[in-house]
Amino acid sequence: MIEILRAQPEDADALKKIAIAAKGHWGYDEPLMAQWAQTPIITPEAIAADCVYKGCDGVSIIAWHRLLTSVPTAILDDLWVLPTWIGHGIGRRLFQHAIAQAQLAGALAIELDADPNAAPFYARMGCQMIGESWTEWGRTIPRMRYTLPANIARRA
Ligand SMILES: CC(C)(COP(=O)(O)OP(=O)(O)OC[C@H]1O[C@@H](n2cnc3c(N)ncnc32)[C@H](O)[C@@H]1OP(=O)(O)O)[C@@H](O)C(=O)NCCC(=O)NCCS
Repeated sequence: MIEILRAQPEDADALKKIAIAAKGHWGYDEPLMAQWAQTPIITPEAIAADCVYKGCDGVSIIAWHRLLTSVPTAILDDLWVLPTWIGHGIGRRLFQHAIAQAQLAGALAIELDADPNAAPFYARMGCQMIGESWTEWGRTIPRMRYTLPANIARRA
């Protein structure tokens, strides 16, 4: 059974390793990946300050997300699943967990900059592409938005 728990500052190294392994799943060039791995990605301070949750299989951490609970639009800054667990429904569970957290915080929507390989996943989760964001890798990636259900109900 996969449990979703609040991440702790001491999880920072494990979460960073998962992010690097997950992004590496898309086969990006080694130099780009090595450069990215030198950046903080996630720190104990960010875990303490932000809404960071981990998926655990009972033994170890297998996935995590970080939500910046700003209103009216929360930002999903990270969502990473360990490659051996990709395609097993963990991403959906963490995305739904982030939706619940955003709703609790009073947000009306979640926005994120999607890795192009992950954009179909976000579309499957109900996100819509609303534009493009420029990245440090010299490329544009999809900016996506999920409108929270309560907001849809309010407008209906
Ligand atoms: C993107 C990611 C978070 C998705 O998590 P996951 O656990 O593999 O996704 P799930 O198994 O929960 O899939 C949920 C649904 O989305 C679909 N889906 C998942 N990834 C997909 C993809 N890359 N392309 C198309 N559909 C995808 C699944 O088929 C499933 O569809 P269903 O509703 O018919 O069952 C995960 O693949 C990952 O961490 N990738 C590498 C890192 C990354 O790109 N992270 C996002 C950074 S913005």
